[in-house]
Amino acid sequence: KQASVKPLIDVQEKAAKLYHHILVNTKLGESALEYLHQRKISDEMIETFNLGFAPEERILKPFFAENKTDYQLLRKSGLFTENTSGDLRDWFVGRLMFPIRNTSGATIGFSGRLLQKNDDLPKYLNSPETEIFNKRRIVYNFDLARPNIRKDHDLILFEGFMDVISAYQAGVKNGVASMGTSLTNEQIYDFNRVTDHVYVCYDGDTPGQKATNRAVDLLSKEGHFNVGVIQMPNGIDPDEYRRGQGSEAFQKVIINGREPIIKFKINYLRSQYNLSNEEDKLEYVDQVLHLIASLDNPVEQDLYLNEIATTLDLSIESLKTQVNRFQKSFS
Ligand code: CTP
Ligand code: MN
Ligand code: MN
Ligand code: MN
Ligand code: MN
Repeated sequence: KQASVKPLIDVQEKAAKLYHHILVNTKLGESALEYLHQRKISDEMIETFNLGFAPEERILKPFFAENKTDYQLLRKSGLFTENTSGDLRDWFVGRLMFPIRNTSGATIGFSGRLLQKNDDLPKYLNSPETEIFNKRRIVYNFDLARPNIRKDHDLILFEGFMDVISAYQAGVKNGVASMGTSLTNEQIYDFNRVTDHVYVCYDGDTPGQKATNRAVDLLSKEGHFNVGVIQMPNGIDPDEYRRGQGSEAFQKVIINGREPIIKFKINYLRSQYNLSNEEDKLEYVDQVLHLIASLDNPVEQDLYLNEIATTLDLSIESLKTQVNRFQKSFS
């Protein structure tokens, strides 16, 4: 098996090199390069992440034809679509290219972003599943982040490519991405091998918050991690925050913005209920008190109970009584 994937990886790396060359050295790449600079991505990051551009005109096929690359190999590379008569056409056109590497740093596939919004096309298009590319098993940037995760003893989990790259540019080099909001158990398995501290730093928008709630549950269920959350203000994402506020402010949020799961949950659950409705309010309180009852530090329990008593205008005594009941039913 090992021997058979080498040529497939080789094709991905050649394609990455070509896309990168087009982005940084040719007229075809100018608009994409301009786009990255507008997003305040440095040339150093363009090199580090080997970013590229797949132009409108299809370039990959003639390139590999010239290199006399085996047709069967190209067919299963995921870099082409094939029509009924067996003709291959480039899979990626008119997209900013993000090479995706495996844990050993080899390029195994790509994701391509449109430079402009187009309602008929997905913003990001990934390589299809191949022998070497299985999206749910890949953690973006795990190879580069790994030594830094070991050094810092924690891993920062982002949603997207641009968040990882933006963070890296700001000096936060222990960031990886789940490449969307559907964190998988396979990805968690990789985290497990390098750290026991994971901070979820997803987008501040509604889907991001929902995904954070799911991710912290999934990570906690795994049992081995110390899980925390880093919240981006005003519904924005980490890359937007860095771009707007600068690297230093970004670093500060990554360090000082860390909060325990319970704090995230108290706020997240609150947004799920209509607290002016009596029934909703009772259900919310019930949910939150269950969470508080599961904390083993009484001081911490007090802290959150006080907060809830104040915001919901309830007596601290009744909240405590209820927490004690829940605790008894645990043990
Ligand atoms: N994603 C994807 N396919 C899509 C949309 C998103 O695979 N059609 C993945 C990408 O890995 C993307 C991540 O989900 O980076 C997060 O999506 P989103 O927040 O919408 O994009 P951003 O990462 O913020 O990208 P950008 O800043 O370039 O808009
Ligand atoms: Mn280069
Ligand atoms: Mn998002
Ligand atoms: Mn985003
Ligand atoms: Mn973004």
